[in-house]
Amino acid sequence: MEAQSHPTAPAGSPTLAALSVEPLLTSEFDADPGAVYERLRRTYGPVAPVGLAGVPVWLALGYPEVMEVLRNESQWRRDVRYWRARAEGRLPREWPLLAGYEVRQMMFMDDEEHRAARRTHHAALGPFQDARSPEGWELRAAVARYADELVGMLAAESGSSGFADLGAQYTRPLLLMVTTKLFGCPVELGDDLVMDLWRMLDGGPDAGPATGRALAAFTRLAAHRRARPGDDLTSYMLLADPELSDEQLGRELFMNAVYLNDITGNMVLNVLLEVLRGNATVRRSLSAGQLGETVNRAALANPPVANMCFRFAARDVRLGDFWVRAGEVVSPSAAAAHRDLRALGSSHLVGPAVSTRAHLGWGAGPHQCPSAARELGGLIVTTAVGRVFDHFTKAELTLPPDQLPWRSGPVVRGLRLLPVRYELATGALPSPRSEVTPAAHGTHGTHGGDGHARGLRAVLRRLMHAGKRED
Ligand code: HEM
Repeated sequence: MEAQSHPTAPAGSPTLAALSVEPLLTSEFDADPGAVYERLRRTYGPVAPVGLAGVPVWLALGYPEVMEVLRNESQWRRDVRYWRARAEGRLPREWPLLAGYEVRQMMFMDDEEHRAARRTHHAALGPFQDARSPEGWELRAAVARYADELVGMLAAESGSSGFADLGAQYTRPLLLMVTTKLFGCPVELGDDLVMDLWRMLDGGPDAGPATGRALAAFTRLAAHRRARPGDDLTSYMLLADPELSDEQLGRELFMNAVYLNDITGNMVLNVLLEVLRGNATVRRSLSAGQLGETVNRAALANPPVANMCFRFAARDVRLGDFWVRAGEVVSPSAAAAHRDLRALGSSHLVGPAVSTRAHLGWGAGPHQCPSAARELGGLIVTTAVGRVFDHFTKAELTLPPDQLPWRSGPVVRGLRLLPVRYELATGALPSPRSEVTPAAHGTHGTHGGDGHARGLRAVLRRLMHAGKRED
């Protein structure tokens, strides 16, 4: 076979390390990331060098460049060992973003190893996204029931009209309940896991130790379900690949928990926000009962995975107006690329009557969100959003949209809180005291029954109040 020759960067073209970069995560970026993407584009073109906590990375901003990086697997690698600055020990000690990249799980694998891991995930998630399977039916019913219970709790604590934070008092506890249910967490573990996930997701100086603790908790969960299998994702992962060690399964669950909690929760909040702020096309699709399309439109306006995880160049390659060297790092920005799509807003691509499926909210290429996970995420988002508008006769933002506080890290852009003034419909709401029975959970008793439900609810109460304090 003839050896393929690849071009190398011309002498004199600047390396990433040699360029002076502006930090991406500034207060301007927090307030208005769109303005920052625009400026970067005007200055550098569709690919810009930026600094992330002191480390230079290429940010792909243009839709074609982002698609190239997401799709061309042989050029753009996920395995962190391709990262030259890391291999050469040039990353700052205690760099806060490194802890996550060092967790070796499916997202950071390539080729056959990656495809095999995806098959396992797909097989294990499949029953839960399929409405015709008992697990899928049961999960759908549970999401709706949890949503109703949380609204019932709100009514019991704050009355049938008043003020609420749909982040701390609805979306976040809902996603934690779903995770506990889907993963098959017994309550003792659930308590630890829930609290540590919150610490980890909040990021900051404790991110490294919190990641370690969360990983340890998921490893314990893996060992627990190996010994006592149930009808849950953890047990089904083991069925799909009995060779998985507890540590590897713990890592895979950890990554799923990030998507299930943080990303899906942010998607719920982003959809609610687009409706509440009066995004006309989002509202139209919601009132036409097209919840899936509502999610597409909200993802286009504000993708929760704003900037996707790093890809590492396998070889020197031209991207945008620069040469990216082998081993340099690129973050593909869905949020910036969506500006290209929206610029075509009046065209056939994203006209109000036409689907917006060109969005990158689920990623693209070999590492895009697996179809079973997308179904599941879509189901949770549409149920969570649908239940709010079923129960609330009135919900209005109590802050102007441009004053809402955002969490905008290097990857996620999500609301810290979503404060509303609400009025509830005078229909029957489930009493917050009506504990969920093991039979209603449909878990054949593997979750520990009433004790589990009571324990979970106690954790949630604490979280809801902690959320309020922090906000
Ligand atoms: C609305 C909710 C969700 C959104 C917006 C979303 C978005 C994404 C995106 C953008 C990626 C690609 C990231 C990249 O290429 O760097 C991704 C990957 C992934 N997502 Fe989702 N996701 C959602 C829900 C879920 C759920 C519920 C699960 C599992 C329970 C899940 C599991 C995964 C996994 C395992 C990957 C990695 C795939 C791989 O590397 O091959 N996601 N998701």
